[in-house]
Amino acid sequence: MQTVLAIDDGIKTLQAYERVLQQLGKIEFVPYTTTRAALMWAENNEADLVLIEQDLEPMTGLQFVDSFKKLKGRSQTPVMMITGANENEIRNPTFETHIDDFLQKPADPIRFLARARSLLKVREREIMLERQALTLEDEVRKATASILQAEEETIFRMAHYARLLAAAIDLSTKQQEYVFLAAPMHDIGKVAVPDSVLLKPGKLTPKEWEVMRAHAKAGYDILSQSDSPVIQMGAEIALSHHEKYDGSGYPNGLKGPDIPLTGRIIAITDVFDALLSQRPYKPAWPLPQVVQNLREGRGRHFDPMLVDSFLEIMPDLLKVKKAFSDQEAA
Ligand SMILES: [Fe+2]
Repeated sequence: MQTVLAIDDGIKTLQAYERVLQQLGKIEFVPYTTTRAALMWAENNEADLVLIEQDLEPMTGLQFVDSFKKLKGRSQTPVMMITGANENEIRNPTFETHIDDFLQKPADPIRFLARARSLLKVREREIMLERQALTLEDEVRKATASILQAEEETIFRMAHYARLLAAAIDLSTKQQEYVFLAAPMHDIGKVAVPDSVLLKPGKLTPKEWEVMRAHAKAGYDILSQSDSPVIQMGAEIALSHHEKYDGSGYPNGLKGPDIPLTGRIIAITDVFDALLSQRPYKPAWPLPQVVQNLREGRGRHFDPMLVDSFLEIMPDLLKVKKAFSDQEAA
């Protein structure tokens, strides 16, 4: 069932729309004779298509559309203007950006029906794609949660480090937030690595290393299917977080600035966190030794500029570490 919101000061016109639209089958038709009342309805209800006259008072059709599009989640709702007003006379930014279709009155019923049908179809498809994207996001979230359950604390601590580094190099607040959300996805490709390799206590054979290294590309393959900008960033990070600044990393042996900035950020934060943490196969390194390692990796493993910024924010990083250890102790 799709909903059509129609606003026109002529009751006969509204009745005519309803009659024609009935031919499309499952349509809920919501008629209003004033823009004000229609806007109040729209604040609490969703429409799949809006039909609107321009010559309305006191709020004109375009003013209505302007307010309507600013409502939460309504920016993509298709709008068809059917009006006695001339298209050229009312062209303005709202018209250009928000009116998806335009018909001059008196509207030919066949043309009206054809256009309404196509706008509703597009709308239906968009909603379907949106749902698919949400499902994918959900799956990714679940997969992230399950694979990283054991390392949960580490992974979120690392996301905080990454956000602090993003802030230190003046990325926008939005980018910092994206980095924070995308960082925990960096090792998601490990779902493709068998436990025998993943959990092996001893040294990996060359063949096993190869399997392990495949997690970068595997993570990218999983995440890159999404249109969500955060998950897209996750895909970029998954693919590039084991690249090294001097070109000796994997999977693509990228060098310097050819490595995406997000991958270079995660490379540092990932290593920093790993060295500073206790693992089944190693004790936690003391801080001076960790810093030493970062300095030695400057320009080899890591982007030199990022190492400098990272070392500058060390007090903040240690605050995060402490907050997490306190949490653990509590
Ligand atoms: Fe990794």
